Amino acid sequence: MRRLTILALALAFITPGAVKADGDPKKGGQAFRACVACHALEPGLHLSGPSLGNFLERPSGSAKGYGRYSPELKSAGFEWSPAVLDAWIEAPEKMIPGTYMSFPGISDPVVRADLVAFLMIAGAEDGVKRVVAEGLIPASWTRSVAPDPIGEGSPSNRIVSIRHCGDSYFIETEDGASYPFWEKNVRLKIDSTDTGPPPGVPVVLGAGMRGDRISVIFRSIADLSRLLVEECG
Ligand code: HEC
Repeated sequence: MRRLTILALALAFITPGAVKADGDPKKGGQAFRACVACHALEPGLHLSGPSLGNFLERPSGSAKGYGRYSPELKSAGFEWSPAVLDAWIEAPEKMIPGTYMSFPGISDPVVRADLVAFLMIAGAEDGVKRVVAEGLIPASWTRSVAPDPIGEGSPSNRIVSIRHCGDSYFIETEDGASYPFWEKNVRLKIDSTDTGPPPGVPVVLGAGMRGDRISVIFRSIADLSRLLVEECG
């Protein structure tokens, strides 16, 4: 029932006659800047929003490996078309009330038509390669804000011990450097994906060990609970 209501709302909102069909994908590539903070185009590369690689090939709310869909988008399960996309980027919250995509929408129909023309290429199979090859967007946008892969790390950022005492962390790296940090300047993060550190080896990132504010990245919660200890002395 809920699903039907949402779909009915979604469809009522879409007025295909009003969609401009002659968008310029090159200008649309520039308009895609508004989306890059949350979406990568590389298939499977999920950021705060799901990857838009090949998204036209699947129903809404069904990207493999993306676990943060709103129940509303997930259960709607509609197919994408230029008209549906136009309605989505005009006002996501109106089309799917309750969506987690916090984006105010684009009111200018010309900009939307350009962006839809771009998305119809970018979201199709092999679309990512095409938009770069055709110069519609810079190659760096396909990964967007995804971090650079840590890989194996280096002796200066691989952590051999990390302990917490009082309001401090004491961190030692493989090259022998060791420093205390104020706990409020240390961000503890998990990166469980390909961009994360090797299992069992947390790394320090950011300004590095001499920096005032640092991030410590663990591969998993298991690593964090095993390797980070509360110990004074
Ligand atoms: C602030 C982050 C953010 C911005 C900016 C943003 N999105 Fe999203 N987007 C999301 C999130 C989160 C979802 C998942 C929404 C949900 O589950 O309700 C989403 C979902 C989507 C989907 C559905 C994907 C699927 O797998 O069904 C499309 C298509 C989409 N966004 C396109 C865009 C476009 C185009 C733009 C730029 C005009 C944009 N988004 C801007 C966060 C964002």
